This record gives sequence, C-alpha cells and structure tokens, in this order.
Amino acid sequence: MKVLGFNGSPRKEGNTHKLLMRCFAALEKEGIETELIQIGGTNIRGCLSCYRCVELKDRQCSTKNDIFNEVFRKMLEADALLLASPTYFADITPELKALIDRSGFVSRVNGNLFRHKAGAGIVSLRRGGGIHAFDTINHLFQISGMFTVGSTYWNLGFGGREGSEVENDREGMENMEDLGRSMAFLLKKLAAN
Ligand SMILES: Cc1cc2nc3c(=O)[nH]c(=O)nc-3n(C[C@H](O)[C@H](O)[C@H](O)COP(=O)(O)O)c2cc1C
Repeated sequence: MKVLGFNGSPRKEGNTHKLLMRCFAALEKEGIETELIQIGGTNIRGCLSCYRCVELKDRQCSTKNDIFNEVFRKMLEADALLLASPTYFADITPELKALIDRSGFVSRVNGNLFRHKAGAGIVSLRRGGGIHAFDTINHLFQISGMFTVGSTYWNLGFGGREGSEVENDREGMENMEDLGRSMAFLLKKLAAN
C-alpha cells in the first residue's frame, strides 16, 4: 500500500513539509509506504482547456513539457493521495491547483481513475483562510468518488515564518499524526475486501 504526498509549497522544507512529514511518519509506523513529490516551485502549468484528453482518452494530458504526466502515472498507482499546501490568499498555491485541475480532469474523462482511492488535504497557514484552502483540496476527492480521511480537527497547522514554526502548533502536529493513523486504518480495511 502506498500513499503519495504532494508538497504544494515552493518552500521545500517549510511548514507544509513539516506537517506532511508528521503524517508520513505515522503512516510508515503502520507499514504503509510513502513517497513525497515536490510540486510547489515547479514548472507545472494550468489546464489549457484544449479538451484533447476528452478526445483521446489516453490517460494523459496533452501538455507534455512539464512534470504532469510523470506525476499523474504515480497518482494512478497510489492507494491514497495527500495534497498539502500553504494558504495563499485564503486558497492553495497555483501549482497545487494546476495539479488538481489537470489530474481531476484526466481522471474523470478516462472513467474516473481516482475512484475508491483515499485522499486527505493538509494546509499550513499563518492566520486565516486555511479552511477555504482545505475545501479547495477536498473538492477533488468529493467529485472523484474518493474516500476522504478526517482527523481530530480540520487538517490545519499554524505557522508563518520559514522553517519549522508549525512544529510549535502542538494540536496541529498531533492532528497530522492522527490523520496518518486513520488513513492507514482505512487503507487496511479497503485492502482486506
Ligand atoms: C503569497 C502568500 C500569500 C499568503 N496568504 C496567506 C493567507 O491568506 N492566510 C494565511 O494565514 N497565511 C498566508 N500566507 C502565509 C503562509 O500560508 C504561511 O507562512 C505558511 O505556513 C507557509 O508554508 P510553507 O512554509 O510550507 O511555505 C501567505 C504567504 C504567501 C507567500
């Protein structure tokens, strides 16, 4: 069983990364494989609305000069997706939104390829707007027939400055650990059927 986690922040080792890593640690403790993909700060483009994916239905996006298709193949192989982002103007980063738009569209037009995978959003924030960012991520899971994993609170962690400020948010960090345990629980139940 494998969980693929995306860091939507251009800060590779910032607060979002810290949250994601705490969740990964809990998953690994339960014997679940994890892989991190750095999406923030990459050249991933937004959807061009060319509808070539609708015509071709070849499980690819016709924009081929960025990392999308390589990443999308990994998404199809994974049992669960963890999409993590800092809050930018009360929403997620443009790189993560580009991934959601393109992967969600290519998945849907090829027969809902994300159906019955598990998913969870993780959001870091300095002060406000995190719930809106969290909702943006959850929209992908809800329209894709995925199982959204919850925790003890919404999956937010407070921290502003570069580095590990979010680690001072004890409740937020504990929430990440619980999220990892709950995701492992669900994946094991799904695998047993
Ligand atoms: C362009 C930009 C917009 C931001 N907008 C918000 C915001 O709306 N609300 C908020 O609480 N923090 C906002 N922040 C702060 C980040 O969400 C916060 O510092 C977060 O922990 C950064 O995570 P990172 O270290 O993983 O990049 C913004 C930061 C940037 C650079």
